[in-house]
Amino acid sequence: MSRVDSLRIREAEEAARAVLSPGAHDFYAAGADEELTLGEAERSWRTWRFLPRVLRDVSHVDTSLDLLGTRLSAPVLAAPTAFHTMAHPDGEVATAGGLARAGSLLVLSSRATRPVEEVAAVAGPWWYQVYVLRDRELTVRQVERAVAAGARALVLTVDAPYVAHKPRVRLPLPLPAGDPLARAVGVDTRTRDWEQDPSIGPDAIGRLTGLSGLPVLVKGVLRADDAKMCVDAGAAGVIVSNHGGRQLDRAVSTASALPHVARAVGDTVPVLVDGGIRTGTDILTALALGARAVLVGRPVLWALADGGSDAVRELFTAYRGRLSEAMALAGVASLRDIAPDLLAGSPAY
Ligand code: FNR
Repeated sequence: MSRVDSLRIREAEEAARAVLSPGAHDFYAAGADEELTLGEAERSWRTWRFLPRVLRDVSHVDTSLDLLGTRLSAPVLAAPTAFHTMAHPDGEVATAGGLARAGSLLVLSSRATRPVEEVAAVAGPWWYQVYVLRDRELTVRQVERAVAAGARALVLTVDAPYVAHKPRVRLPLPLPAGDPLARAVGVDTRTRDWEQDPSIGPDAIGRLTGLSGLPVLVKGVLRADDAKMCVDAGAAGVIVSNHGGRQLDRAVSTASALPHVARAVGDTVPVLVDGGIRTGTDILTALALGARAVLVGRPVLWALADGGSDAVRELFTAYRGRLSEAMALAGVASLRDIAPDLLAGSPAY
């Protein structure tokens, strides 16, 4: 049995640490400042307890869903994370291939280290994560390339007007030599073109929708009022996220923000969530708190480093299996049956 089969993520991280350079491991693992938000992420899902239903027919459990027109085998996506070639020589191409074989969806980071066309050639369904950069022409070119390569949606990340200080990260990163993306992390200080534009407002959502013709989800929302603002501005989905604890330290956990955002958004658009989601029971908790699907970040990087494309496939197959098991034991046979009453002390979003 491979390390990720049983979702022994800790062991996968340890195995990855053994093959990664210390600089790459610390870049992936790091959180901002004192890492308080990072430290709370996993724990905050685990504080919930289930009220399982009994005497329901759970002989067949269906984890599949339709998400913005794409059929998925389970409500678990790969979050956009930067610089996969530090984990594996094939980088995002290996990640995309593993996800395609697991029937899962990749959100490709705009800080990817392999050309978008090469990733698309092996990918199943994929979305493209965007920052609105200081250099608008560069932003437009990135989006146009992603659209031409077959992205099915855009994910606009809005919680990083500036890249937060991460004491554990040491520059320069061990990126492949000559990678132009080195500039994105301040290695080349001659240009600020690659930096996020800190002045953007909600009108960016409509502009990106118009430019791409694709649905635009907004990632990095923690407040009900911001979620409503994004939906009113045309967002096709909202992703509750604190960037894996890598932006504002002491930001609330996503487990505590999710029910408020879900209540504000209602059924208008799907609400997704990420941050510290590691087990089938974490996923079931997130769905009961109002998420349509979840994203996982660091575990994908550990799997990629440890076992390449095959390990990524195994990770997502394992997530589906463990969610299916948790659903059966909680007495729910399909995602439609998951509701807040599955949790003791239900937050009734
Ligand atoms: C990220 N994240 C991120 N988000 C984004 O929108 N664009 C990006 O390029 C990146 N890059 C990135 C790199 C690394 C190394 C990490 C760990 C994270 C945030 C990511 O999409 C997601 O919100 C978190 O990783 C989710 O938390 P977990 O699952 O890692 O705990």
